Formats: sequence, structure tokens, C-alpha cells
Amino acid sequence: QLPHTYDGKVLLAVIGGTGLYDLPNLKPVARLTISTPWGFPSSPITISVTESGFPVAFLARHGQHHDLLPSDVPSRANIAALKHIGVKAIISFSAVGSLQPEIKPRDFVVPTQIIDRTKGIRPSTFFEKGFVAHAMFGEPFDLKLNKIISDNIPSQGFLEGFDLQHTPTFHTKEKTNKGEDLTVICMEGPQFSTRAESRLYRTWGGSVINMSVLPEAKLAREAEIAYQMICMSTDYDSWNENEEPVTVETVVGNLKANSANAHKLAAKLIDVVAVEFANGTGIADDLEGSMKYSVSTS
Ligand code: ADE
Repeated sequence: QLPHTYDGKVLLAVIGGTGLYDLPNLKPVARLTISTPWGFPSSPITISVTESGFPVAFLARHGQHHDLLPSDVPSRANIAALKHIGVKAIISFSAVGSLQPEIKPRDFVVPTQIIDRTKGIRPSTFFEKGFVAHAMFGEPFDLKLNKIISDNIPSQGFLEGFDLQHTPTFHTKEKTNKGEDLTVICMEGPQFSTRAESRLYRTWGGSVINMSVLPEAKLAREAEIAYQMICMSTDYDSWNENEEPVTVETVVGNLKANSANAHKLAAKLIDVVAVEFANGTGIADDLEGSMKYSVSTS
């Protein structure tokens, strides 16, 4: 039984998606149930510490037993709860379909752009009821956090010898994509896309597709928290005529096969970000106070 309180600030959080429900390489020290004005988060928040004693918060986006549809994830409660405990940076994980041949199932992608194909039914702002704000979102992921992550994962071979079936490629804008953006299409779901939609997203320059990056990324920006998603490719969606259109079986099969790699990657990135915080390199410093310039209500 873990304590229900934790004294002290937790600067980094990991939000786990399908297939990433905990951080087994870290030592859990507390489990928090936090009530927010937007309700309870998807799951209790587990605080764990790394070997060097750096605390990290972990939240399971779809619930501990995966019982929340993408459209029903309480993203405002999730982000508000993390803000409440002092989080300044979030690394989130998500299973994605690949829209490009070179992004193979079990590869990882660090996206830099988002196209919103949700249907407007997910509450996606903290500002309402006569209080209007327009956050900047031209760069939907935090550039500093993206650079730290991208610089610290080699494009190839970082997990060599770990997964014997598939050594993942790490797709980043600078290292593997010739400086071109890597774009995640966020669709409403819960059904997967038609073949025609999947082909359309390719013409839009989509790299990968999921149901989870929004409104999470928008709310993190409004909460002045640095946010970067790591995508775990699980399938070729529906565009590829040489493959069967995506099924849950394919997604879950690849996620399970890749979960050790995902856990290892998460642990590595936590260590890297811990060092950045320890060195005071200013993650999220530029975001602090930024929203006051976005409010348009007098
Ligand atoms: N998550 C994993 N694979 C997906 C796909 N093909 N479309 C939407 N979300 C996904």
C-alpha cells in the first residue's frame, strides 16, 4: 500500500497510452487521487523515483484497465492534476498507425506537427464562461523538449540487441526526416479510418495517426507545461493495399511485442530530462506566464 500524499514538487510526468500502463523500471513511492474542478483524472497518479532519486508522475490516459474511449478521456482533469503537483514537462506515449512506408510497425516517432480531425466533441480549453484566451499553437509540441528528446535518441540501434525481431528506427525531424515535419493526424474514432480517409491523410502530409494527442497537447499549452508525444507505430492504418486494414489485434500484438522497448525508452528519456532539470537548462521557462498574453477578455 503506497502513501496517498507526496511532499515536494514533481517536475516531470509521463502519460502512458495503450500498451504503456506503468513504469516498471522505477520505484513507486506514492499514489495520488486528485480531484480537480474538471473531475478526476483517468487514473490515480503514481509517483516513482529513478535510481538517482528524481521523482516522476505517471498517469494512464485510458485508465488503469483501459476502460476509457479516446473521446471520453478527461484531459482537462489529467492536465490540471499534473499542474497541481508542479509538473513542468510531460512526455506522453501513444500507439499510432503509420501513414508512411518507412515508418514500420514497432518504430518510434517524435512528431512535430498535428492535424486536428477530432469532431469538436472533446472539451479542449480551460478558458470558458466569459473568459476568452487564444494560446499560440503553431508549434504544438515544445521545441526545447523535442530537441532534448530527439538529440538523445539515435535514429537507429539505441535498443539494439533488445528486441530480437525488430530493431526499431527512431523517426525524428532532424535525424531521419531531412528537417521535414513529422505530422500526427488526430482522429475522433473509436472506429479506425476508411481507406479513402487514410489516403487523404497521406496527401495532407500525415506521418502517423492516433486518437489521443488532442486535446491533451492544447491543454498542456494552456497550462504552460512543456509537452512532447512519443508515438509507437503499431500498424499501417488502412491506406496500404498490400496489408489488411488495421485491426485491434494488430495494434495490441505489436504493442505487446514492443512494450519492453517502450519501457526502456521511457526510462532513458526520464533520465535525460532529469539531468536537464538538475542542470537548470530551463525546460518550460519560456512558457511560464505566457498565457497572460493570450487572454482577450478585458
Ligand atoms: N492507434 C493505433 N493505430 C491507429 C490507427 N491506425 N488509427 C488511429 N489510431 C490508432
